[in-house]
This record gives sequence, C-alpha cells and structure tokens, in this order.
Amino acid sequence: MNGIKIRGTGRGVPSKLVTNRDLEKIVDTSDEWITARTGIRTRHHCAEGERISAITAQAARRALEDAGVSPDQIGACLVATATPETLVPSAACALQRDLGLPQDIPCFDLNAACTGFLFALHTMECLLNASPRKFGLVVGAENLSRVINWADRGTCILFGDGAGAAVVECREGWPSISAVLGCHGNSELLYLPGPESEEHGYLSMEGTRVFKFAVEAVPWCVDQVLKKTGRTVEDIDFFVFHQANARIIDLAVRKYHIPPEKYYKNIAEYGNTSAASIPLVLSELREQGKIGPGSRILAVGFGGGLTWGGCLIEFA
Ligand code: UT7
Repeated sequence: MNGIKIRGTGRGVPSKLVTNRDLEKIVDTSDEWITARTGIRTRHHCAEGERISAITAQAARRALEDAGVSPDQIGACLVATATPETLVPSAACALQRDLGLPQDIPCFDLNAACTGFLFALHTMECLLNASPRKFGLVVGAENLSRVINWADRGTCILFGDGAGAAVVECREGWPSISAVLGCHGNSELLYLPGPESEEHGYLSMEGTRVFKFAVEAVPWCVDQVLKKTGRTVEDIDFFVFHQANARIIDLAVRKYHIPPEKYYKNIAEYGNTSAASIPLVLSELREQGKIGPGSRILAVGFGGGLTWGGCLIEFA
C-alpha cells in the first residue's frame, strides 16, 4: 500500500473566548484548580448564531490554500466528529457543497471521539490508494459546547469547539503512516447519548478513570508505532498528543525523555476539542515553522469509545 503525507494544514476557531474566571461564575470551581489539574486557561465556544459548519469550511479552505491544492483535485473528504451540525447531510457532505469538491468522490463523517482524526487519516490512506485523485481532505471538527452539562463542574470546564484540517497526498513508494488503532466498547467512562435518546444530550465522563486509561494508552500507542515503523524516539521530529489534559502529555514526555522543542501543548488556549485537537496542533506547528517539509511526526490520540491510536506521518 502506498502511504500518505501531509501537504497543508488549516484551522477554524470560534469567536467566543471562555476563561476560567467566566466558569467560576457558573459552577463551583476556580482558575487555580482548572489550571493546576488540566492546564486549561481558556477555550473557544461557538457564539450564538456561529455555526461549526462555517468554522469547518474555514479550516478546510485554509488547508487547501496552504497545500496549493484546488478543490477539484480532492479524491475523498472525511470529517471526524461526534458533534456534527446535522446528522444528514453529514459534515463532510456539507463541505463537498461549500468547497465545491468533486461529486464523484466519497465524503463522509467518522466518529471515533477524540481519536477520530487518526482513524480518519488511516481511512484516507486506504481510500486514496483506490482513487484516481491523489489528494484527500481530512478534518477534525467539534461543537462540544453544545453537549456540555453546565451543572457538572467535572466536565464543563474541559471542552472547547474548533476545527483543524489537513490536505494529504498519496504517492507510489511513500511509506504508510503505519496507524495502530484500537477500541473497547464502554458506555460508563465516557458517554454522549444520541439525539433520539430520552436522556439529556449531555456528555458525561468518569474523569479519573479515563485519566488512568489515557496514561496507559499513550505509551502503548507510541511503542506500537515505533515498533511497526522500526523507528526510535530519536528518529521522531515532533510528537503530537491529543490535548485532553496537560498532565497526561507531561507524563508521556517524561517517560520518553522528549525534549521541549519536540512536543507542543495548546490546551491552555483551546481546552479539549476532541477530534479537532490533533489537527489544531498540526496547524499551529505548521504556522510557527516548527514542522514543515520532511518533518516526521508521531501522533497519538485516545478518548471515548473507548478508542486509541497512533501513526507516523510525514510532511511532504
Ligand atoms: O479527551 C477524552 C479523554 N478525556 C480525558 O483524557 C480526561 C481525563 N481526565 C482528566 O483530565 C481528569 O480526571 C479531570 C481533569 C477530568 C479531573 O481531574 P482529577 O484530578 O481526576 O480530579 P477528580 O475528578 O478526582 O476530582 C478531585 C476533586 C473532587 O473533590 P473531592 O471529592 O476530592 O472533594 C472533585 O469534586 O476535585 C473536585 N472537582 C473540582 N473542583 C474544582 C472536580 N471538578 C472540579 C472543578 N473545580 N472543576
């Protein structure tokens, strides 16, 4: 199988900035607690009337521009999301319309919660191998503020909205991203009911248990990707971790002795944006010139489902 590489990235960020101090007015919490336990200081939420579909389209347009790829060159479009604006049309079909992507290509949404972007990259690699068009659009987008239970201080402080996008290219002879992906069905640790459910459509989470799962899942994914690719930690130019809690990233960094110039945290500004978190990091790193042509990136995600995954992806 031929592999994919990233050609360009982009992001879309909602306008409403919610600070920890703002949350102090809603629930019994404090800026000190949130910062110390999570690393989060602000998060962006969609303002009234602001639509996640428009933010998703903005991220995708910027990624196309960054890649120098036109919509008619796209061979497949995937949106990783658990909070699409509408179930039908899917967020990916809406992007097909908004960006004028070709009509003879697969466009669909994929839900693997916080690991969604990595599931989508792997799926895109498979799709592009069978496509005459060799560019793909992979987006992670979430509107989590819509499913926040504002009476639950354990979760309402964590989540943010946003969208990150990558244009990838598939070429003969390029190595596969060697994705390792896994799932373990569990409704207790992290749960978001469907729209037809009798329950309120709120997200709930057993935070401490998910934390324990995450600190085991992250090194498992790193080890598996390194093993599958025959690489060592030193071979990696940048580690990109899902931004769920700064402490989870710090533990991984310590375990693998990753130097500060090889990892990144933007959780302080965005909070946990689930499927959007990894592409938001990629887009910021790209803009800051920290990753670019030739960079070898090990990305790791984990979250609801439960799901987890890792891959090694290069910048073209
Ligand atoms: O992206 C998907 C995957 N998600 C994750 O990876 C999230 C993983 N989990 C976490 O990040 C952490 O578990 C949390 C940040 C959610 C919670 O941190 P924690 O250190 O596990 O705290 P805790 O839930 O054990 O709560 C400790 C105390 C409790 O009080 P008592 O029982 O000790 O009196 C909570 O009631 O902190 C209390 N607490 C809060 N206090 C102030 C819980 N939330 C808050 C809050 N403000 N917002």
